[in-house]
Amino acid sequence: MARWTRTQASFLHAFFLLLPCASTSSAIEQEAGSLLRWKSTLSPANGGGDYPSSPLLSWSPGRPTCSWHGILCDAAGCVTELSLPGVGIHGTLTALNFAALPALTKLDLRRNNISGHIPIPANVTGLAYLDLSHNSLSGVIPDTLARATPRMKHLNLSSNGLHGPIPRSISGMQEMRAFDVSKNKLTGKIPPELFMEWPEITEFHVQSNFLMGGIPPDISNATKLQSLLLYRNSLSGQIPVEIGKLKNLQFLILAWNSLTGPIPHTVGNLSRLVLLGLFVNNLSGRIPPEISNLAALEALDLDTNQLEGEVPEAMSSLQSLQYLDLSSNRLSGMVPYLSISKLHAISLENNRFTGEFPLAFCQQASLEILDLSNNQLYGELPPCLWSLQKIQFIDLSSNAFSGNIQTSAKSSLFLESVHLANNNLMGEFALVLKRCRRLTILDLGENNFSGTIPSWIGASNPLLRVLRLRSNMLHGNIPWQLSHLSSLQLLDLADNSFVGSIPRSLANLTAMMQPKAELNIPLEVNYQVLGKFARYAYTERININWKGQYHTFEGTIALMTGIDLSSNYLSGEIPLELSNLQGLRFLNFSRNHLSSSIPKDIGNLKILESLDLSWNELSGSIPSSISKLMSLNSLNLSNNKLSGEIPTGSQLQTLAEPSIYSNNLGLCGFPLNIACSDGSNSTPAPNSQSQELEALSWYYSVLAGLTFGFWLWSGPLLLFEPWRVAIFRCIDHIQDRAVQKVFIV
Ligand SMILES: *[C@@H]1O[C@H](CO)[C@@H](O)[C@H](O)[C@H]1NC(C)=O
Ligand SMILES: *[C@@H]1O[C@H](CO)[C@@H](O)[C@H](O)[C@H]1NC(C)=O
Ligand SMILES: *[C@@H]1O[C@H](CO)[C@@H](O)[C@H](O)[C@H]1NC(C)=O
Ligand SMILES: *[C@@H]1O[C@H](CO)[C@@H](O)[C@H](O)[C@H]1NC(C)=O
Ligand SMILES: *[C@@H]1O[C@H](CO)[C@@H](O)[C@H](O)[C@H]1NC(C)=O
Ligand SMILES: *[C@@H]1O[C@H](CO)[C@@H](O)[C@H](O)[C@H]1NC(C)=O
Ligand SMILES: *[C@@H]1O[C@H](CO)[C@@H](O)[C@H](O)[C@H]1NC(C)=O
Ligand SMILES: *[C@@H]1O[C@H](CO)[C@@H](O)[C@H](O)[C@H]1NC(C)=O
Ligand SMILES: *[C@@H]1O[C@H](CO)[C@@H](O)[C@H](O)[C@H]1NC(C)=O
Ligand SMILES: *[C@@H]1O[C@H](CO)[C@@H](O)[C@H](O)[C@H]1NC(C)=O
Repeated sequence: MARWTRTQASFLHAFFLLLPCASTSSAIEQEAGSLLRWKSTLSPANGGGDYPSSPLLSWSPGRPTCSWHGILCDAAGCVTELSLPGVGIHGTLTALNFAALPALTKLDLRRNNISGHIPIPANVTGLAYLDLSHNSLSGVIPDTLARATPRMKHLNLSSNGLHGPIPRSISGMQEMRAFDVSKNKLTGKIPPELFMEWPEITEFHVQSNFLMGGIPPDISNATKLQSLLLYRNSLSGQIPVEIGKLKNLQFLILAWNSLTGPIPHTVGNLSRLVLLGLFVNNLSGRIPPEISNLAALEALDLDTNQLEGEVPEAMSSLQSLQYLDLSSNRLSGMVPYLSISKLHAISLENNRFTGEFPLAFCQQASLEILDLSNNQLYGELPPCLWSLQKIQFIDLSSNAFSGNIQTSAKSSLFLESVHLANNNLMGEFALVLKRCRRLTILDLGENNFSGTIPSWIGASNPLLRVLRLRSNMLHGNIPWQLSHLSSLQLLDLADNSFVGSIPRSLANLTAMMQPKAELNIPLEVNYQVLGKFARYAYTERININWKGQYHTFEGTIALMTGIDLSSNYLSGEIPLELSNLQGLRFLNFSRNHLSSSIPKDIGNLKILESLDLSWNELSGSIPSSISKLMSLNSLNLSNNKLSGEIPTGSQLQTLAEPSIYSNNLGLCGFPLNIACSDGSNSTPAPNSQSQELEALSWYYSVLAGLTFGFWLWSGPLLLFEPWRVAIFRCIDHIQDRAVQKVFIV
């Protein structure tokens, strides 16, 4: 009864006001009828239906339409808004009769599961806001959309499965302010009309599609643009000089395209620019000095292009800069002098910078990430480097730095990751360890460090996960206290002068006892860009001698567990207890003086993929448990004193290269062409396990391809919160495109 009265009241109200939709009560009934018809087409399990938790439960004929969930009406009782974001609606828009909703101004159905095509609405001339983002729409953007909805101001079709071109006719929506068709499968060119006929446009987002062609010079007509996101397409040609006329631009991201030619000098006119991202293109020439006019710039990312020459000196006047990435170009000359005190991250790796370590960096009180690796820098490292208060990550590897490391007493508390590999550094390395208790990764390989591994190592670096001291001049015993490093998962002491035996206590390295499951070692830094939350993270990068070849493990380094003690002077036996370390993926004890036999429980190392014991003095027979190593696909037992029959087993049968057993005392059986005395050198028939094994080795090769393959990603991640995170999809992208950088969107 009460319900009826309310309905009647709104009918009366409508009747007296005589507004467009509602000149009669039948028009209102029509609205209700049309909405209910649409509701009835929705899948009952998802959004439709009348079960108690249905988001559309309130949509019933007994209630006034204006009281329904998600419906707003004007004073006349006509439906003006339909907003049901993220309620789990599952269905299509086919049955939604726009003709019956003539007063509709806003339709927001984002984050549902609406499939099918975008309906071609009848003339809803008042519709100004249409958000269908994050659904499962397919088909094309209808050519007639602009004619039906000429007053559109906000059109968001992002994250659907739309294909075909962006229709030229859409330029007819002349009041357009925010246009977002990102993350679809759109092809063709960006119609220049959109910039010429949309004088009010402020946000133009078409990233992550398959758009081709150039950036139209007519872009300069869209003078109110604040955000221009064209990244992750196949755009080519040059960046038009006209871009400099977009005085209001704050976000300009053209990354991951095939743009060529220079960065236009006119970018210096974009005085409000906060973020400039031109990375992973084919831009050439110099960085224009005008870039230093960008007083508001907080993030500048030009990495992975072919920029050359010196970095303009005036760059140090960018007082708002927090993030600078010029990596993977051909820049030369001195490292730019940066007096900016707000810098959080500096990435200049993979260039041709020369000169000494810039002392100005010691003044960067906010600096958290510093990557100067793979340049031609030389000289000693200043002690002040180690006292940067916020520094977390330092990579200076592959330069020509020399001399001792002089850590200052006041060392950084936050240092987590130190990469100094492949320089000419010398002296004792131990002080770095002592001062930095948060260290997770220490890579000092390929230098000229001397001395021993201190016995206090286990006590002072409880978090250490990676210790790489390969190819130095270290000597002495491997201290048993190493086993206190309960997080240690990668230990590379190869190619030094260590003596004595392999400490039994290594079997107590907790982190090597279980396979690793996490994908990455997280190291990230948060910062704000213009109020929007943004963050960047550094992916770790370690070189490992993996299955006989050097690989750079990146991103997924956290999955890797192994011990490399090869090329030292170690003697004694291989501790039996090492078979406890069931998370090991590789073990290399090659080129030492290890004697006695191979531990008989070696088969317990279930996920071991690579085992190299060559060039030792191991004797006895090869334990039969070795045939239980289902993942083993790199084995070398050559140049020892082994004898007896080579065990057989499915996985071992795949290791058919005779050289892995060569030069021993008396091995026989497959794959050697030597029959054992009892005549059993015949290849055993593959047993019932072989299919399972095939599946397993397929899994491993996928993992190996993914994790340790040929792709590199070396730069920081840029993660922009408004665009959602999908790390696995990114990995696919990385493999597809072999780019060096992840920008998670
Ligand atoms: C959306 O609906 C389709 C079937 O139409 C289904 O396969 C898919 O899993 C649904 N997606 C979500 C996110 O519910
Ligand atoms: C929509 O309006 C245009 C002109 O304003 C007209 O030509 C067209 O016939 C109308 N379409 C419908 C379905 O009413
Ligand atoms: C479009 O929608 C997506 C997803 O709902 C959102 O992240 C994005 O910010 C929207 N675009 C604009 C320009 O508002
Ligand atoms: C676009 O801008 C140019 C000058 O930059 C001007 O001559 C032209 O009239 C503008 N076009 C429109 C459609 O506004
Ligand atoms: C840059 O150009 C080179 C050769 O001209 C080409 O191999 C490469 O794929 C291009 N890179 C991009 C990102 O377009
Ligand atoms: C824009 O930049 C160019 C090149 O740096 C300069 O010559 C021109 O005066 C600038 N225009 C404006 C309006 O600032
Ligand atoms: C390493 O240091 C020693 C002296 O400590 C020196 O003789 C040798 O040349 C250095 N090696 C390299 C590669 O710098
Ligand atoms: C490993 O740790 C256990 C418990 O702390 C200890 O009893 C054992 O002696 C250690 N083993 C070796 C070989 O150090
Ligand atoms: C083990 O180390 C030696 C010497 O460092 C190297 O030559 C060999 O390739 C490594 N073996 C594997 C399987 O990586
Ligand atoms: C095994 O090691 C020996 C000696 O280092 C080497 O000649 C041979 O090529 C290696 N075999 C394989 C398959 O790596």
